[in-house]
Amino acid sequence: MSNPWWKNAVVYEIYCKSFADSNGDGIGDLKGVMEKLPMLKELGVTCIWFTPIYTSPQVDNGYDVADYRNIDPAYGTLEDFQNLLQMAHSMDMKVIMDVVVNHSSDEHVWFQESRKSKDNPYRNYYIWKPAKDGKEPNNWGSYFREENGSAWKYDEATGEYYFHQYAIKMPDLNWDCKELREEIYDMLNWWIDLGVDGFRLDVFTRFQKTPGFPDTTKKAGPLDRNGFVVDHDMCTNVEGIHEIIHELNRNVFGKRGVMTVGEGSGVTYENALPYVHPDREELNMVYHFQLAARVRTSLSADQFRDIQSKWAQVIANGGWAVQYLSNHDSARQVSCYGDATNYREESAMLLATLMHTTPGTPFVYQGEEIGMTNVKFDSIEDYNCCYTKGDYYSMIQKGATPEEAISTLAPRSRDNARTPYQWNGSEHAGFTTGKPWLKVNPAYEEINLEKDLQSEKSIFRYYQKLIAMRKEHPAITEGDLKFYLCEDRDIVLYTRTCEKETLLVVANMSSKPATLTLPEELRGEKFKRILTNCAKNAPALDGRTQLQPWESEVYVKA
Ligand code: GLC
Ligand code: CA
Repeated sequence: MSNPWWKNAVVYEIYCKSFADSNGDGIGDLKGVMEKLPMLKELGVTCIWFTPIYTSPQVDNGYDVADYRNIDPAYGTLEDFQNLLQMAHSMDMKVIMDVVVNHSSDEHVWFQESRKSKDNPYRNYYIWKPAKDGKEPNNWGSYFREENGSAWKYDEATGEYYFHQYAIKMPDLNWDCKELREEIYDMLNWWIDLGVDGFRLDVFTRFQKTPGFPDTTKKAGPLDRNGFVVDHDMCTNVEGIHEIIHELNRNVFGKRGVMTVGEGSGVTYENALPYVHPDREELNMVYHFQLAARVRTSLSADQFRDIQSKWAQVIANGGWAVQYLSNHDSARQVSCYGDATNYREESAMLLATLMHTTPGTPFVYQGEEIGMTNVKFDSIEDYNCCYTKGDYYSMIQKGATPEEAISTLAPRSRDNARTPYQWNGSEHAGFTTGKPWLKVNPAYEEINLEKDLQSEKSIFRYYQKLIAMRKEHPAITEGDLKFYLCEDRDIVLYTRTCEKETLLVVANMSSKPATLTLPEELRGEKFKRILTNCAKNAPALDGRTQLQPWESEVYVKA
């Protein structure tokens, strides 16, 4: 049986707001994306994922949707989108949309209706509760920690509270409501009719909340406010969630044969399989956070091996997963896991090698293909990310100085990933002729696409080769993964073996040279190098070999 397209795909994530601005208003837009499609084609990506481009008040940059069937005017029109879709398809690239249906914007007409009266036909689309002892219905905290920190907001019109896991302006939808489910199916089918190839499901593990909304008994964490406790378990992987996803599959995804990838908050190699095993008819794949840059700030070879070998089991058992280190919610991978100061290009290439040669579908986040780095702004005013702001005010309330708070939060801010794309060395990095909505990373004069393409150590060109390799070597998609332990613990060494071939990958995850002692089992075999991030002769794979800092090599068994 041949592989479904998404197993062979390389997905590129576009954060439209920060990608390319065509009209000088400082906001990236669809026409800007269209101008850059040839560059994505050249890179070799086969699928684009758009983070939300729907009509939105932009409280959370589009993850607060006010109209699920239209494009935000800042990005263009529905017609622009249809043109883009056609253009992408004519270039053999698929397009998948972000679906944000854990919550909507409070400006969505459903919510506008819902809040009007207790007997409004839309009342049950959201989660409403009366006060408990004159206070919030329970002690759950919201992730963005606005105002008093509660996940409930009092609404005067009906004298009840509504529930919001995220921003106050992002009320949670009620998946227990049958009419709501039907609306979502219709809306998704409408996008499929328009021609989209699949969906990325935002925080899908959080659609089902703990029945009865009991108080959490978890202790308040250092950033929790006023006794409202952020307890992800109350709304993550709660019983009933599989039924919701299965119904989505039955009514939309499976029925129409579109690709799905779920954002797996709280998904680990232990609980992933039921979401992604084909027999379950839920999702094609999930992405997990166990390697994501931000959740962790460093990644050792041992940790990498440990997590990858366990996820490889999920795949070996019939599931599928995403390979990525960063996205719009993370920091920049080269700053977190590589050495952005001394070996930026080498370490960016090494990290890419790991993502593109381990089992699963690689997702590239805009800018990683030129090695974009983290940024640090001086003032909280320059930050936009809701987590950074919420955590900042919590820290200030608890006595931190602004400098302390920013130093702590900057390395983890999602704004690291959201600064505008660095196209060239001109003002605002060539992103816009106007004033960018979020400041450009001052590193742009050194780090930009134009400069990268002229460099002997071009990261972009390296990504091209990696992506091209996937098309030629079936072991990358199909091969079993086997790790070998090396004496030098900074070295990662593994093979990928399918019926047709064996690939071998070796990588030195450190800024120091390393000595590779080839394991007994692999000695005497003949290997031919097919990819390197190092301008030197291929290390001979016999006995002991020196590896340079951040060197990565890919071989095929001759
Ligand atoms: C997901 C998105 C993130 C957003 C959140 C709420 O985690 O990736 O950007 O803030 O959901 O929609
Ligand atoms: Ca614009």
